[in-house]
Amino acid sequence: MGRLFGLILGLIGLSSLCSALCSQILPSPKPDLPSSASSTEPYLVGAGSCSASGCHNANGHSGTKGSEYSTWIASDPHAQASSVLGSDRSQKMLARYLGKSANTADPQKEPVCLSCHVFPDPTLNQGSYTGRFSAADGVSCEACHGKASQWVSAHYQESWKTLSSAEKSKFGFVDTKNLAIRTRTCVPCHVGEKEMDVNHDLIAAGHPRLRFEMGSFLANYSSRHWRQTDEIARDPNHSWNIWTTGQVITTKAALELLSYRGNQKTKPWPELSEYNCAACHHSLSGFYGNLPSHGKMLFGTWSNLSGNLPAYSPLNSLWDKKAKEDLGSLTRLMVKIGSHRAEVGSLAEKLAKKLDHGTSHLAPPPSPKEVRTWIEAYEGSIKENKINPNWDQDTQTYIMLRAYFQHARDLKKEVPPNLENHLGELQDDLTSAFQTNTNSILHSPENYDSKLSRKWLQKFGEDLR
Ligand code: HEC
Ligand code: HEC
Ligand code: HEC
Ligand code: HEC
Repeated sequence: MGRLFGLILGLIGLSSLCSALCSQILPSPKPDLPSSASSTEPYLVGAGSCSASGCHNANGHSGTKGSEYSTWIASDPHAQASSVLGSDRSQKMLARYLGKSANTADPQKEPVCLSCHVFPDPTLNQGSYTGRFSAADGVSCEACHGKASQWVSAHYQESWKTLSSAEKSKFGFVDTKNLAIRTRTCVPCHVGEKEMDVNHDLIAAGHPRLRFEMGSFLANYSSRHWRQTDEIARDPNHSWNIWTTGQVITTKAALELLSYRGNQKTKPWPELSEYNCAACHHSLSGFYGNLPSHGKMLFGTWSNLSGNLPAYSPLNSLWDKKAKEDLGSLTRLMVKIGSHRAEVGSLAEKLAKKLDHGTSHLAPPPSPKEVRTWIEAYEGSIKENKINPNWDQDTQTYIMLRAYFQHARDLKKEVPPNLENHLGELQDDLTSAFQTNTNSILHSPENYDSKLSRKWLQKFGEDLR
């Protein structure tokens, strides 16, 4: 594209989308749209580059167009993610984790903390950014929307809008409107990846257990700087699709993390955070044993990694017969706690690869009858003692039913009148199991009564009749 043409495009773009103020703060390259991304690696330009009032800092109501920066800086937890590393709590946590004295531990310089609390790149402190980027910003615009050096001065131009998602990605731009791509931006920090790892050592040092589920995290992201109504206008099945997409991408991320944990000999093994916490932790008696107390170790109860998936899981349609056998083997190896490290590593790697093309063929939203059939199948497995659900599993069932309910409501479909009340009551049961738990950092109450499952499944079955 000619330089002059680019300049004209730039001017049109500037007058229509961005105020003159914008151009004053834009870093080089000049505001024209290069015909292809430059061969140098994109780098971070910092949240300050998005904060002109004519760009994303209009200071309007939370979530209004043009006020994305204002919303983020005022109320997004991600804007605090870096400063939280300066707290006493973080310093003590890192010291315990490294086995150092507190005054020599500095989380704000520690790659393992920075990689999730600033940007998913532990080499950040080695200068992969320009002077404009400040680690103090925390998890800012580019952590989700992509390193912006090559697109910051182009993305408000008319010609940018004509580019496909794949073309934009060549500039380092991340298409967060695509639900699979969006979920992939969250999981490195919210599930973990390679050295970005909230393992049992870090949890025991005081870090919250990571328990990510895309649909509920988006729903609880009260300070989001975009509108749910736009999401549903783009895709009427949004509430259902975000749940199914999230399940698949999160499971893939969990398998990749497990494979890394297994293959990397320097990492702790067995990795206790892969198991159901309640197997060893008994909050009421205050006992932390190193052996499972009753029954066997439960593996992968949060992340869908055991071979024992409930009938409703969108993963069922993605695993072929061989993969289901492999999942069974993975579970058997994992419950023989401590051994088989390398086999676990390679099995998990193989299974993660199976989910590579995962989300395009996911099933459409179910009918009430289908949901009822799933529920009854699940209830049947409990009756036959094939599954003894715990808090993790019941919470996942709850989240699935919420997604179903929310989707029906988005489409203004008729929803069984009792379903909402019953979902609310189940939510109360799940949260009150926490309040009786003195050590809520475990995030998985040992004293959750698994008999509750059947009561709720029966009620939901009746509601959906
Ligand atoms: C794999 C990514 C990851 C790593 C590594 C990580 N964190 Fe976190 N941290 C998170 C996420 C995600 C949350 C939010 C937890 C949630 O609500 O799910 C969090 C929460 C926290 C909180 C609680 C914040 C609050 O507002 O309550 C503290 C404190 C914290 N992290 C400190 C640290 C320190 C110190 C380190 C380094 C030793 C560290 N983190 C390493 C991802 C990570
Ligand atoms: C935690 C991830 C995350 C962070 C941090 C983040 N965004 Fe977003 N942003 C999203 C997601 C997800 C969407 C919704 C999908 C979409 O519209 O692209 C979005 C949407 C947007 C939109 C489109 C809004 C609309 O109405 O269409 C803009 C503009 C935007 N973000 C700018 C910013 C700016 C500026 C910052 C930094 C101040 C920022 N974002 C920080 C994830 C993030
Ligand atoms: C660079 C790492 C990173 C990325 C990418 C990221 N997050 Fe976070 N997120 C964090 C950290 C760290 C926290 C904890 C911040 C704190 O409390 O200080 C957090 C907190 C949150 C919270 C608040 C949780 C709570 O318990 O209050 C939500 C919701 C959330 N993130 C959603 C998302 C979503 C959705 C995405 C993807 C679109 C995303 N995040 C991408 C690191 C990240
Ligand atoms: C196989 C048994 C086992 C499993 C499973 C297990 N833990 Fe632990 N946990 C221990 C042992 C043993 C200790 C004490 C030694 C240590 O600090 O590592 C401990 C320590 C802790 C501590 C520190 C307690 C304190 O009083 O200082 C926390 C917090 C914790 N675990 C949380 C969890 C969470 C959350 C999970 C599930 C994700 C989990 N554990 C899974 C055995 C287990």
